[in-house]
Amino acid sequence: MSRALISYTLAAGALALCMMSACKDDTTTNPQPTSGDKAHGEYLVKHVAACGECHTQRNEAGVFVDSLTMAGGREFPVGSVGSIFAPNITPDTETGIGSWTDQQIIAAIRTGRLPDTEDGKPTSDTVISPVMPYWLYANMTDSDVNDIVAYLRSLKPVHYEPTENTVPASLLVRWAPQAGIPDATPNNAQTQRGKYLVTLARCIDCHTAPAAGSGNPLAQGVDVSRFLAGGNRYVSMADPNKFITAKNITPDDDTGIGGWSTGQIDSALALGWDDQHEGLCPTMPWASYNAMVKADRDAIIAYLRGIPSVKNDVAENDPGTSCQHP
Ligand code: HEC
Ligand code: HEC
Repeated sequence: MSRALISYTLAAGALALCMMSACKDDTTTNPQPTSGDKAHGEYLVKHVAACGECHTQRNEAGVFVDSLTMAGGREFPVGSVGSIFAPNITPDTETGIGSWTDQQIIAAIRTGRLPDTEDGKPTSDTVISPVMPYWLYANMTDSDVNDIVAYLRSLKPVHYEPTENTVPASLLVRWAPQAGIPDATPNNAQTQRGKYLVTLARCIDCHTAPAAGSGNPLAQGVDVSRFLAGGNRYVSMADPNKFITAKNITPDDDTGIGGWSTGQIDSALALGWDDQHEGLCPTMPWASYNAMVKADRDAIIAYLRGIPSVKNDVAENDPGTSCQHP
């Protein structure tokens, strides 16, 4: 089962009780003026965290629908039990997060907590499912999260109500912040920056297998003993009956990217080519990372080179899923 499907299977059912709009209607406080740096927030949202990969719908040709930028609606199937739909995070006051305070938005991003109910206490209904990677955003700096809020507030409000979640209310689980993310060797300012970026950019979520026992809805997070060693299967965007595999990106020479040059890793990250110059599929969000600044890409590469090698020969992509691009 793909990492994605497992995550989604674990996803909260509470939202079946707490429909997104109803949760928002509980919020009566006015938004506070925001102090963050909007331009830097835009950089993080578009080119590092790639929030739009989930919060903006694509059309049938796989292209983002501009008129629905950050307006939600992308469906995340939860096995056979239902679906989670990404919410509208534009500043529309009725269908988006326009009436939320900065603190409420920050809590959603870093802790997966929705605005409290009338009595002021968070309940099981106020937990966001871990499809939203708040468990990786937990250590986002105050400065970065404020910048993201400033950028979200500057977006065009889009009046659009995504479909309500259909998962049953029995699988609720709040994921703790992901623990055990390794430091690289050498451990220095550049590799620490790389570690931070690999977390924000969610490489960890896609390229690491789920923690053991994740068949159990109460299990959490990823298996750090196989950190970034790949293997999760994703439905091909080109053919929903076929799967592609997130690759082993540890420095293992045989099964990982230990033999790749820095230029080759950079080209995978920013241009979507593997070491054989085969096109990487858009599930790997290289098109978003394309405008990541070089210093940040270098930090990611330095970090990837210094993490523990894991031998893990992952499955090939299914035949007929090739993703050539110009
Ligand atoms: C992997 C997909 C994914 C990514 C990446 C992602 N989100 Fe989300 N986000 C979701 C989903 C799905 C939900 C709703 C989960 C639910 O209904 O349980 C959500 C919920 C939210 C909410 C709560 C909104 C509401 O009305 O409930 C906010 C705010 C939010 N995301 C902001 C962000 C920001 C900012 C980023 C980037 C820094 C981001 N998200 C990245 C999938 C994602
Ligand atoms: C949404 C899931 C997802 C995210 C997030 C993601 N990847 Fe990937 N990545 C994939 C998939 C799937 C592939 C395989 C694509 C293909 O074969 O067409 C891949 C391929 C790669 C490759 C090529 C490896 C090879 O052997 O061909 C590299 C390198 C890579 N990713 C690095 C990263 C880094 C670094 C990050 C974070 C900055 C990242 N990925 C984020 C899913 C993801």
